[in-house]
Amino acid sequence: MRVGVLTGGGDCPGLNGVIRALVRRGTQEYGYEFTGFRDGWRGPLEGDTIPLDVAAVRGILPKGGTILGTSRTNPLAQGADADGRSGIERIKDNLARFGVDALVTIGGEDTLGVATALHAEGVPVVGVPKTIDNDLGATDYTFGFDTAVNIAMEAIDRLHTTAESHHRALIVEVMGRNAGWIALHAGMAGGANVILIPENPFSMDKVCEYVESRFETRYAPIVVVAEGARPVEHDVSLLDQRLDAFDHVRLGGIGQMLEGEIEKRTGKEARCTVLGHIQRGGTPTAFDRVLATRFGLQAIGAVRNGAFGMMMSLQGTQIVRVPLAEATREPKLVPPERYAEAEVFFG
Ligand code: F6P
Repeated sequence: MRVGVLTGGGDCPGLNGVIRALVRRGTQEYGYEFTGFRDGWRGPLEGDTIPLDVAAVRGILPKGGTILGTSRTNPLAQGADADGRSGIERIKDNLARFGVDALVTIGGEDTLGVATALHAEGVPVVGVPKTIDNDLGATDYTFGFDTAVNIAMEAIDRLHTTAESHHRALIVEVMGRNAGWIALHAGMAGGANVILIPENPFSMDKVCEYVESRFETRYAPIVVVAEGARPVEHDVSLLDQRLDAFDHVRLGGIGQMLEGEIEKRTGKEARCTVLGHIQRGGTPTAFDRVLATRFGLQAIGAVRNGAFGMMMSLQGTQIVRVPLAEATREPKLVPPERYAEAEVFFG
C-alpha cells in the first residue's frame, strides 16, 4: 500500500503533527509506504513529489507550517491540458504513475471540496479538516485555531499596557474571513472592550460612542476586529477586493478604517495593529499538537479500514468519521448567544 499525502489551502500550526502521525503509524504498524505531494493540489496536478518516510518526519511535531508546502491551486478551475485532460484526470493519471493506492488530503473547505470531487471519480480519499478560522461545520474544532487564539491573546495582553500609557484606543485586526471565532475567543481571553465579528455587522456610531465613553473613565479601550467584520453604514468597496483561485476575497483594511473613524469622531488617538500571518506561523500549542496527532492516527486507521470518502471529525472529545461532503456543508459561524456572552453588541 502506498499512501499519498498533501496539505492544501492556508497553512496552519499542527499540519506537521498530522503528517508525522500518519507516516509513523502507517509505516511502523501497517508497513505502508508514503509519497508526499508538494504544495497542495499543485503536487498531484503536476506530478511534483517529495520523499516521505519516518526519517523525513523526525522532529517536525513542534514546527509550524507544513513540510509538504501548500498552495491554493484549484484543480477544478484548470482548463484542459495539451492532451485534453481536465485537472481531475491529470491528478488521477499522476496518482497511477506514482503507484498511489490511497490519498490523504489535509485541508479546509476548498481542499476537501476537491477531495470530494475526486472521490466521486473513484479515487480512494480520506480527509483531515484544517482551518485556523475554526469555521468548518463538520467538526467541533480544527487544529491551528487554539494556536492562533493564543497568539492573538498575547498580542492583546501586550497592547493593554501601551494603550494605557498613551491613553490611546488600540485596534487589533485578527483573521477570520466569514467567522469571528478567533476575534471572539482572543478578545474574551484578552479582556478586550470591543469585539467585532463578520456575523454581526456593527454600527460605527455605537463603537465610537462606546470608545469615547471608555476614555471618560480614563480607560484606554482595546478593539478586536475580525478581518471580515463590516460596519453597517459604510461602503466596503474601498477595502481590498482581490480574489484567490477559490474566489475568496483577500480581506484587509477594516482595522485601518476603524482607526480613522475613531480618531475623527472621538478626537482621541487610535492605532491599528494587523496581526496577519503571525497568527498562522510558529509552533503549535499542546492542544493543537494533540488534536493533529489524533486526526493523523485516525486518518491512517481509516485508510487501513478502507473507509474512503470519509473525513475525520472531532465531536465532543471523540474523533469520528463523517462523509467528506460534510466538509463543504454550512460553515460554523458564531451564534448570537455566544457573541452575546462577550457583552459587546454594537449592531
Ligand atoms: O482561511 C484561513 C485564513 O487564514 C483566513 O483567516 C484568511 O482570510 C486567509 O486564510 C488568508 O489567506 P492567505 O494566506 O492566502 O493570505
